Amino acid sequence: MKALILVGGFGTRLRPLTLSVPKPLVDFANKPMILHQIEALKAIGVSEVVLAINYQPEIMLNFLKDFEAKLGIKITCSQETEPLGTAGPLALARDKLLDDSGEPFFVLNSDVISEYPLKEMIEFHKAHGGEASIMVTKVDEPSKYGVVVMEESTGRVEKFVEKPKLFVGNKINAGIYLLNPSVLDRIQLRPTSIEKEVFPKIAAENQLFAMVLPGFWMDIGQPRDYITGLRLYLDSIRKKSSEKLATGPHIVGNVLVHETAKIGEGCLIGPDVALGPGCVVESGVRLSRCTVMRGVRIKKHACVSGSIIGWHSTVGQWARVENMTILGEDVHVGDEIYSNGGVVLPHKEIKASILKPEIVM
Ligand code: GDD
Ligand code: MG
Repeated sequence: MKALILVGGFGTRLRPLTLSVPKPLVDFANKPMILHQIEALKAIGVSEVVLAINYQPEIMLNFLKDFEAKLGIKITCSQETEPLGTAGPLALARDKLLDDSGEPFFVLNSDVISEYPLKEMIEFHKAHGGEASIMVTKVDEPSKYGVVVMEESTGRVEKFVEKPKLFVGNKINAGIYLLNPSVLDRIQLRPTSIEKEVFPKIAAENQLFAMVLPGFWMDIGQPRDYITGLRLYLDSIRKKSSEKLATGPHIVGNVLVHETAKIGEGCLIGPDVALGPGCVVESGVRLSRCTVMRGVRIKKHACVSGSIIGWHSTVGQWARVENMTILGEDVHVGDEIYSNGGVVLPHKEIKASILKPEIVM
């Protein structure tokens, strides 16, 4: 079975992290976002993943080469010369997706995180016999997503409306599809939106079916949702494989600590923290609701909450970093500095406090 992951787009909403790597390579819970998806695909027997990409394919491929061997899965790129939207890339990768088997293939948005019940999705797809299946989930604020109106008993989609201005329903497109090869015949090689141009037509022909996603779901393409997504993800790890979470008197709630990270005396860590490879947390530090990426040093008595600390940055002694502060790669926050929602571009040194949410260039 094959799969295509849509990895285009510039990830502007996740800057400054995406100034260092393409969005799918930004770490989430101690590994690049896209690895969560590739591992889930591999687990249900997908043998080849096509990355639909529109810039810097070398970075992505170089990075993923190691994982190709480790996971035993083929990873190739299909590169656009202009952004083709969410459907055009399928037409471009047509030859890679089709084979003699006539089997359906998966298509995934690269910035969503969930429990990926892909096996159940295959069963669902076989059972309804339609042309396309999509995963849906309920959210409180449907207007920033694709909204689906479906027949509850069968899952048949009656209507698909991308980013509706008026309320249509609260079940939204989760960005995980299973499509028959015939769907490719509906897509031309030009910039096209699968949500606006393809799904509404398939739905009108009663060939589109939606399965309600069991478990959590989050689009982690912006900082606030990324931080919420980590909480949901760690909750789900707690239920499924709690042995992966850290334990001890210095840990509160769900905390993921990489085996190579070091934590000093008298720290209090959690809830909802991911501490990446090679991090050093000195003594007396307080961390909650935050992601600390590879190679970061948090110095004595610093306090970090509700924030993301990018690769190889440092947070000074007694510093206080909070309220959706996002430090890009290699940022150095001085001792005793306060950051209230600062968004700091890579390679900066912060010598004065940031008193209100702002971008520091
Ligand atoms: N190759 C390629 N080329 N990929 C693209 C392009 C492009 O021109 N444009 C966007 N993508 C990729 C993005 O990288 C992402 O993985 C996916 O397509 C969806 O694009 P987003 O920009 O993240 O869209 P969205 O979050 O506003 O909305 C989409 O996702 C929602 C769920 O998170 C839609 O599919 C909604 O219907 C859905 O509810
Ligand atoms: Mg998105």
